[in-house]
Amino acid sequence: MSKSFEKQIPDAGKKWVEEDSEKENVYWPNENMKEKAWISDPDIYKEAREDPKSFWSEKAKEAIDWFKDWDKVEEWDPPYFNWFIGGETNLAYNCLDRYLKDRRKQAALIWEPEPIDEHERILTYQDLYREVNKFANGLKELGIEKGDAVTFWMPMIPETAIAALACQRIGAWHSIVYTAFSPASVKDRMEDAGSKTLITADGFYRNGQLMELKDKTSKIIKEVDAENCIVANRAGSDIDMKDGRDHYFSDLVEGQDLWCEPEPLGADDTSFILYTSGTTGKPKGIQHSCGAYTAQAALTTKWVFDLHPEEVFFSTADIGWITGHSYSLYGPLLNGGTTLWYEGSPYYPEPDRWWKIIKKYGVNIFYTAPTAIRALRQREDKWVGEHELSTLRILGSVGEPIDPDTWEWFFEKVGGGRCPIVDTYWQTETGGILLSSLPGIGPFVPGVAGPPLPGIQYDVLNEAGEPVEQGMSGKVVQKHPFGIGMLRGVYKAPEKYKAEYWSEFGDEIYFSGDGGKKTDMSIGGQVLIQITGRIDDVLEVSGHRLGTAEIEDAITELDEIVEVAVVGKPHEVKGEVPAVFAITKEGIEIKKHGQELEEKIKQIVREKIGAVATPEIVYFVTDIPRTESGKIIRRFLKSLLRDEKLGDMTTASNPESLEELARKVGYEGPEDIISQTT
Ligand code: PRX
Repeated sequence: MSKSFEKQIPDAGKKWVEEDSEKENVYWPNENMKEKAWISDPDIYKEAREDPKSFWSEKAKEAIDWFKDWDKVEEWDPPYFNWFIGGETNLAYNCLDRYLKDRRKQAALIWEPEPIDEHERILTYQDLYREVNKFANGLKELGIEKGDAVTFWMPMIPETAIAALACQRIGAWHSIVYTAFSPASVKDRMEDAGSKTLITADGFYRNGQLMELKDKTSKIIKEVDAENCIVANRAGSDIDMKDGRDHYFSDLVEGQDLWCEPEPLGADDTSFILYTSGTTGKPKGIQHSCGAYTAQAALTTKWVFDLHPEEVFFSTADIGWITGHSYSLYGPLLNGGTTLWYEGSPYYPEPDRWWKIIKKYGVNIFYTAPTAIRALRQREDKWVGEHELSTLRILGSVGEPIDPDTWEWFFEKVGGGRCPIVDTYWQTETGGILLSSLPGIGPFVPGVAGPPLPGIQYDVLNEAGEPVEQGMSGKVVQKHPFGIGMLRGVYKAPEKYKAEYWSEFGDEIYFSGDGGKKTDMSIGGQVLIQITGRIDDVLEVSGHRLGTAEIEDAITELDEIVEVAVVGKPHEVKGEVPAVFAITKEGIEIKKHGQELEEKIKQIVREKIGAVATPEIVYFVTDIPRTESGKIIRRFLKSLLRDEKLGDMTTASNPESLEELARKVGYEGPEDIISQTT
């Protein structure tokens, strides 16, 4: 079967990128790459800068089919904005129906199961179209309609793609929860969204194990009073099904009509919600739009990954994250490409599974996260080196800054020194990529994300809200007119929308929560930006976003704990891991009960949030540095864990607490804490 895939790669093995001899470690596309690329003229940046609204208007028309033209390109009432007002379209229609004529027989979705003795499943555009229509009719039969929220707790299997596209077809909102989150997290998200339908599977395979899903939801389904639970039968497990409420996926599609009218949806109607962690309390339901998000997903996939029809795109991102939505599913299909989903772990049965998959299907574009690259790099190079990866044309990275060493390893060992690495910076809130160099233009600089995409007004500001000079660092923001696919709100929480994103520099500037540096390089008049990481209370654990407040709230539910602060501790592979500073109730002997209590803390976090958030280490302390008003100063905790300078300690009302903390964490930084705190 791989034969037909190989035919699509005429330039396999050619050198696609050239190094800049003037500047160390700067790479530029060569003539082949420029010729093939959809975009190779840097003038596009200027054109977009001069008139962003006309630019987006023209591109959005080109990228997708609209059922009805819009009356107005953009509207802005800070901090709210809308694009393409009055326009109507449908995401599923744009992914499937419009390709039926030319791509009926082309693979739309290739699915590779984890067990090696199982066969792959390949759904052509025609197959996927048929299954989506049938499932959409099944949803309707259950009474689900436009504007209803449907929660998914689904692994990477074809039914997930079918169900998501079916929701889009009828205008129901999917709210997809990552399978490594706990059932309690699913419940929170169902309650917040008012969702009465859960779509799940009996289980899935990871690292050779069957991971159960449906049976773990029995309790929460009752608690949220769910009306429907749809179960994909992935593993053939014997599971508990309740008559009338629980339906097998296969039963629901059985006998359904092959046609379901795609609902004409307003450009700014909600297309889905996706919960993500912020600086406060529980995760927030980020609302994305229909038409504008769709156009953005289509355009950014085409520009950044230079995806050409029939190319095979392998994004390792799980559907539970925004990357899974925009680039494992919608972006490739919107461009008539083939998306490849793999169910399981990159280490199963051996740490060359991804490389084997790339070879097996002739993958052209490979998109993953720095944490995974670091972990694979720790294994011997022979695991990569043994595979023929010459079909690869473009590599991508997302989720956290990629350090230059890891970048070079990825570039040389995986890309064979041929493939540009697009270091794509964006967020759940932005819906699509905002900063990245483009394959046909460049430059590619290890550790530097790149310039804002055409039409995006990104900047780096100092504390006073003024743009910093090149070479300087500050806070990364976006200015009006905003990216078309940006969030349109936080579900049922307008105050959070304002506080989280539109308060740092007033309600006309979107603050990302990230720190960044304007480099001394620019292209097409756009400065290349290096992202230095979150400067708020959000953690990135293996590229997974978690709020410190969420983890703290879970831990304080334990009776033994009086107060707790969670901060990110640097970790070689995961980037960051949660570290807990906990003050216990009086009378608890840490020497005797510390270990048991540490386990209890880890357990409650696993239960309330999920295994991804499990703290790596717990420090039991008697006090935590805080301001006069009692607010914990996390900056100190972070610096202690990084052996960094602590800075002005007089901002703490209890600086003496730092001494104990420094001892506990084994601080070896430049500061003489004892002399300053006594
Ligand atoms: O801190 C930035 C980091 O990931 C955050 C967004 O996380 P999330 O909403 O889960 O979305 C992840 C996938 C888009 C950002 O605020 N981040 C994402 N991409 C990069 C990055 N940091 C540095 N470089 C990147 N390429």
